[in-house]
Amino acid sequence: MPDTIEGSIYDYPSYYDLLFGSDWKAEFDFLQKCIPKHCTKSVSRVFEPACGTGRLLIKLAQAGYEVGGNDLNEKAIDFCNDRMERYGYGRPTTVGDMSDFRVKRKFDLGFNLINTFRHLPDEQSAVAHLQCMAAAIRKGGIYALGIHLEPTEGTKMEEESWSARRGNLAITSHMWTKGIDRRRRMELLGVTLDIYTPTSHRQIVDHMEYRTYRHAQFKSLLKKVPEFEVEEVYDFAYDIKRPHKITAETEDCVFILKRV
Ligand SMILES: C[S@@+](CC[C@H](N)C(=O)[O-])C[C@H]1O[C@@H](n2cnc3c(N)ncnc32)[C@H](O)[C@@H]1O
Repeated sequence: MPDTIEGSIYDYPSYYDLLFGSDWKAEFDFLQKCIPKHCTKSVSRVFEPACGTGRLLIKLAQAGYEVGGNDLNEKAIDFCNDRMERYGYGRPTTVGDMSDFRVKRKFDLGFNLINTFRHLPDEQSAVAHLQCMAAAIRKGGIYALGIHLEPTEGTKMEEESWSARRGNLAITSHMWTKGIDRRRRMELLGVTLDIYTPTSHRQIVDHMEYRTYRHAQFKSLLKKVPEFEVEEVYDFAYDIKRPHKITAETEDCVFILKRV
C-alpha cells in the first residue's frame, strides 16, 4: 500500500514537470508555426498565464524569445524562476491570478494550452481573464487557448493517464471524471500521482474542478470580449496544416484568438 497524501499536485512542481515537461515539443512547434500564419508583424515577446513550472516557457526562452508568465502557485513559480535563472534568463514569472493581472510591456503572443483556462470557476473570472489577456497582447498578436469543449453528441473522454521516469524515480498520473455538477457547470475530476522509487511508493490524491464549456457557451463568452476574434481553430494534434471544424462531437480545441 502506498503512503497516501491528500493535496494539490501543483504543490509538487518537480513531479509535475517530470510528468508533463517531456511533452513540450508538439506545443512548442505549433506555437512557432502559428507566428507566420496568424500574427501580424514579428514576435519577440511571449506570455503564458497560469504557466506552472514553465515547461514551455523555458524552451521558448532558449529559442530566443523574451518570456513572461504568472501562476497562483508560489511553489510552481519558484521552480520556474529558479530554472530560468540557472539558464541565464532572470526570474520572468510572477505569482498572480490569471484573471487579475497587468503587464508592464505588451506581449506579441499569449498561450494557455492544456485546459488550464477551465480552472477559472465562473463567467466573471473567465471574462476578466480574457480582458487581462487583451490588455497584455498588442493588436495583431494572438492568444492560443486550448480547452476541452463539452461535446453534445458522441462519447466524452472519461480518463487520461501519463507516466514518466528519471533514473530511479518513476511517476504515473491518472485523471478521471467523477461527473458534472450541472448547477455550477463544473466537471469534478479525480487525480492521483503515484511516485515510485526502489524503496518507496507515495500517492498524492487530488480533486480538481473544471468549468464546462459547450461550444455555444464558449462563443457567448467570447462575445463579451470583442478585443479578441477567433482567427482559426485546431485540435490537440497541434497540426498547423489541419485546422479543425467544430462539430457536436468536438472535444479538444485550440482557439487562435486574434487581438483586433
Ligand atoms: C494544468 S497546470 C498547467 C501549467 C502550464 N500552463 C503547463 O502547460 O504545464 C494548471 C496551472 O494553473 C494554475 N492556476 C489555476 N488557477 C489559476 C489562476 N486563477 N491564476 C493563475 N494560475 C492558476 C495552477 O496553479 C497550475 O499551475
